[in-house]
Amino acid sequence: VAESFSLRIASSGGDYDVDISTGLFAEVIERGQFDAVVSDRYFLPKLQSAGVPVIAVEADEGHKNLATVEEVVVGFKSAGLHRASRVLAVGGGVVQDVATLAASLYMRGIAWTYMPTTLMAMADSCIGGKSSINAGGMKNLIGNIYPPTSVLIDPDFIESLSAEGIAGGMSEAVKICFCRGPEAFDRYLELTPAASTPEGGAPWLHHVLTSKQWFIEIDEFDRKERRLLNFGHTFGHAMEAGVGFSISHGLAVSLGILSALRFTADSGGADLIGSPLDAHCKQLVEMVPDVGERLALIDIDQFEAAFRHDKKHGSDGLHLILPAVGRGVEEVVVADLEPGVAAARKAVESVVSEVTS
Ligand SMILES: NC(=O)c1ccc[n+]([C@@H]2O[C@H](COP(=O)([O-])OP(=O)(O)OC[C@H]3O[C@@H](n4cnc5c(N)ncnc54)[C@H](O)[C@@H]3O)[C@@H](O)[C@H]2O)c1
Repeated sequence: VAESFSLRIASSGGDYDVDISTGLFAEVIERGQFDAVVSDRYFLPKLQSAGVPVIAVEADEGHKNLATVEEVVVGFKSAGLHRASRVLAVGGGVVQDVATLAASLYMRGIAWTYMPTTLMAMADSCIGGKSSINAGGMKNLIGNIYPPTSVLIDPDFIESLSAEGIAGGMSEAVKICFCRGPEAFDRYLELTPAASTPEGGAPWLHHVLTSKQWFIEIDEFDRKERRLLNFGHTFGHAMEAGVGFSISHGLAVSLGILSALRFTADSGGADLIGSPLDAHCKQLVEMVPDVGERLALIDIDQFEAAFRHDKKHGSDGLHLILPAVGRGVEEVVVADLEPGVAAARKAVESVVSEVTS
């Protein structure tokens, strides 16, 4: 029998419990504790016996907008929800973002429970309470923080995910554990081989979420420590832009970490190449068969333009999260802009040539 785990997250918007247990989805639907469900359209067949109104959301970037939030809010009204009603949201990051904002706005805020279904959402975004909604063709322009009253994780959802979905979730997970420090990273490497099995999913998720918990509790509003979780993201986001978003965000995080390692290796951290983090991120990238073909089409000038304009940089230079000797990562300000950009370009070119060769 697979073990169950739980943790409690402290947050200024209210503390909340996270329960991790296989079979939880069927249990929750059977218990019928909710007055309405907001769900990724993909799961509608599994919600036929829910016995309450189900509001379906298309889980893609084109629908992660205010129009969908409005549809969900109107759906709440049609379902007769009042301030004390209980809502369940089922889906990955798109459903989470839409449900967070809709629940925070309806009648100035109603309680909601989140059941994440992608590995990224289970291992990372389900705690922290953030929402990000696209607007005017731009990604994640609108957002707030409105944590759920509880998070219920059923690792059985991992079974139907694609290799890219699993590699992407693991990329965010390894980033969290490496940033937390050497012990958390070693434990992550021990637990990962069994992460996609029915017995291994729950302990793996518990470890990753406990590692993330430290960051969100110590720095709920992203001012200092939580910024470290941007490791791999400045390179990764710009690589996503360089390939016209043909690689998923999660996979871009692994590619971004590989680039950050090469950037640091060139300025004195040579032992990072071939390190356990380097080897693991390469393995994650290799889980996706055609990633080399997609990466080969990168427009390196497009990468550079996106890298220069990353929103985390400051007026004092490039702000990068880079490996720190023996203790996870640190924020580094690269004041010499042009040599910094040239070094970033070189690091990415070397990742592209390794992955495509
Ligand atoms: N709020 C936050 O803190 C936060 C953090 C990171 C990312 N995000 C956002 O999350 C979004 C990405 O979310 P995501 O990667 O979780 O996926 P997603 O919600 O975009 O879903 C991706 C695809 O997977 C399908 N899917 C979901 N669960 C499945 C399952 N168990 N089996 C098979 N298919 C399944 C969906 O139907 C969809 O087609 C982005 O919009 C990103 O901006 C939010």
